[in-house]
Amino acid sequence: MLTQVQNVLEAAQEAIKTASSQEQLEKNYIDLFGKKGKFTELSKSISKIPSEQKAEFGKSLNQAKQQILAGFEKQKKEILSGGGKQKIDITAPGKRPQIGHLHLVSQAIDEIVDIFKRIGFSLKSYPEVDWDWYAFESLNMPKDHPARDEWETFFVKSKRHATLGNQVLTPHTSNGQVREMKRVKNPPIRMLNISRCYRRQVDVSHTPMFHQFEGMLIDKNVAISNLKGTLDYFARKFFGKERKSRLRPHHFRFTEPSFEVDVTCGVCLGHGCRFCKSGWVELGGAGMVHPNVIKAGGLDPKKYTGFAFGWGVERTIAMRTEIGDIRLLFQNDIRFLEQF
Ligand code: PHE
Repeated sequence: MLTQVQNVLEAAQEAIKTASSQEQLEKNYIDLFGKKGKFTELSKSISKIPSEQKAEFGKSLNQAKQQILAGFEKQKKEILSGGGKQKIDITAPGKRPQIGHLHLVSQAIDEIVDIFKRIGFSLKSYPEVDWDWYAFESLNMPKDHPARDEWETFFVKSKRHATLGNQVLTPHTSNGQVREMKRVKNPPIRMLNISRCYRRQVDVSHTPMFHQFEGMLIDKNVAISNLKGTLDYFARKFFGKERKSRLRPHHFRFTEPSFEVDVTCGVCLGHGCRFCKSGWVELGGAGMVHPNVIKAGGLDPKKYTGFAFGWGVERTIAMRTEIGDIRLLFQNDIRFLEQF
């Protein structure tokens, strides 16, 4: 390469390599390729050199230009990437790390467990896929009994057990009742069973998978008043001091007598309003454990009595936070979940 060209190339490469900002790089570019730039001048000098040298001169000019341009590209990338030494702007506002929280359903379950723990109920967990016997038969609902229709059950293709029957996705947490009696054997029993449950239903107040919590107390001389006291306690703790519960006659095969549990409406506190009409909103089922169920659990119904209640966690949440559609709980839209 010709020496004049070589000199300009070397000087340019040095200048480019030491440039530490984009502005400096731009200045270097103008110094070279601007109207009076060194490279521009050099190119112009081609007119002064003898014609037989022109071709060679032009070639080396071109080569040098390619190398210089490549140098600019390389240094530009280097500058943009912070040159390995990340520059920290200590005056820039900090970025808060996002901290997640438990899902609303998990929060409610923790709270429910806590409320019942304080009055001696301990948390148990029984199978989500259970034998027909625990889910229905032992609860006084023999095979083909029409009462089973109320639990729109998912059946599992499984090998039939000689005495326990087929398997189902448990449609309620009552499958824990007999299991718990058989486990403890000697009352008192104070069980809180929380589990996922499954039913063939989808609408604003139902999802095919949901959670139920079930309380059961078995001891000597347990009366309806004990059930009522426990439900009032729960209503006060979960919904607020001023809330009350009431029992309405109902029918379940596994409790006798059976009730539907209502709590006073959160809007009008029991006076009656457009939202609730009667002043009460429905929570779920309850009753005194049926003697046949106590027998199925291996206990003597003449010696022991007890109560049980059970209903949906999602429904309970929806009643407190006024969620219009419980399907929202499982759509995992972060904008919804972040609110709780
Ligand atoms: N298992 C019943 C249901 O799912 C509720 C219930 C539980 C009723 C315990 C009485 C006693 O609807």
